[in-house]
Amino acid sequence: MIKAAVLGYGTVGSGIVEVINTNKEIIAKRLGDVLEVAYVLDLREFPGNPVEKILVHDVDVIMNDPEVKIVAEAMGGVEPAYTFAKRALENGKSFCTSNKELVAKHGAELIRIAREKNLNFMFEASVGGGIPIIRPLIACVTPENILEINGILNGTTNYILTRMTEEGLDFNDVLREAQQKGYAERNPEADVEGYDACRKIAILSSLAYGGQVDFEDIHTEGITGITPVDIEYAESMGRAIKLIGRASNKDGKISAMVAPMMLSKDSPLYAVRDVFNAITVTGNTLSDVMFYGKGAGKLPTASAVVSDMIEEAMKYGENVKILWDEKKLELAHYSEIENSFFVRLSKGEDFDEERVVKAFGDILQVVLESRPDEYAFITPVMSEGEFLKKYESFENRLNMIRVG
Ligand code: HSE
Repeated sequence: MIKAAVLGYGTVGSGIVEVINTNKEIIAKRLGDVLEVAYVLDLREFPGNPVEKILVHDVDVIMNDPEVKIVAEAMGGVEPAYTFAKRALENGKSFCTSNKELVAKHGAELIRIAREKNLNFMFEASVGGGIPIIRPLIACVTPENILEINGILNGTTNYILTRMTEEGLDFNDVLREAQQKGYAERNPEADVEGYDACRKIAILSSLAYGGQVDFEDIHTEGITGITPVDIEYAESMGRAIKLIGRASNKDGKISAMVAPMMLSKDSPLYAVRDVFNAITVTGNTLSDVMFYGKGAGKLPTASAVVSDMIEEAMKYGENVKILWDEKKLELAHYSEIENSFFVRLSKGEDFDEERVVKAFGDILQVVLESRPDEYAFITPVMSEGEFLKKYESFENRLNMIRVG
């Protein structure tokens, strides 16, 4: 029997216990041993819940029990998760987590500590919820020079954009409804401003490029500025607007950003609707591979954590190498990233089309009959810095969205 502890009995923590109970036999067969949750740590009481029998309020009970070999964390937030992770590893326990804040900030250090102790720090559920993406990056695309990663990494914003697109609804109305249904957090800032996706692409790019990508260095824009009119334009071009986390390696220059992008039907991410997430990885010899599934939710996320617990149980005392150095990886400045841009300007009386063409070059005009008072177009590919300088020289600007 392999004893484990679960830190936090919220949505994901209770899901971990449920997955282990539901699939007890199949897990035992695959592991060749029984995985038992010996303790659950939570400050709350759960009267009448079977978890009461294994509930503890003091983390020392877990840390001081030498029989506990695996600790799974689902509390969220950097502290006390970080302190608990270090203590667990130092006390001979492998640690796994669904906590992207913890992984984005301290992943490299915790991987090093685990390596020094011949243990493991795993985090499959921290990106894409139930979608296997961390393990494929660590174990499957290892021969590849990873040219690009593109991901729909946040379910809440994908749900909002899908409803806005399919029902012509306004951002705030969909957000309110998503909150009522419990899809979106009461404080939705981390989702709608792109901060959640930013941490996730920071984790993926750190793994893809082997060094510490600080999320604070990643230029991040959310979806609060997207209007039904933008979506109408996108649809008129056969495109969909998605919040994309992108990391790329162009001739050794690593860059990363999070922003809404207009994707064409050719993009494998175009058809990813609702709360689903998807990630494409482009390798120089592999070409494109795509990972798709439920990026959030109790059981899918918990299943990914349990997959780490099983691997950690199988490999207790043997470190699985993960290349993520603590040395900071310098990203190309966001102003150097190249994109093509969709732009909307308002047409006042003194509107000067020639000035637009002179500024942006070979543009492709986009006409929407319902918007005769606007001049919309797609620019050629140019750097973000060059674009911004041109765009900001127009006072009649309405909106701009990158064309992905
Ligand atoms: N708030 C996140 C989302 C949850 O909407 O995708 C999973 O990290």
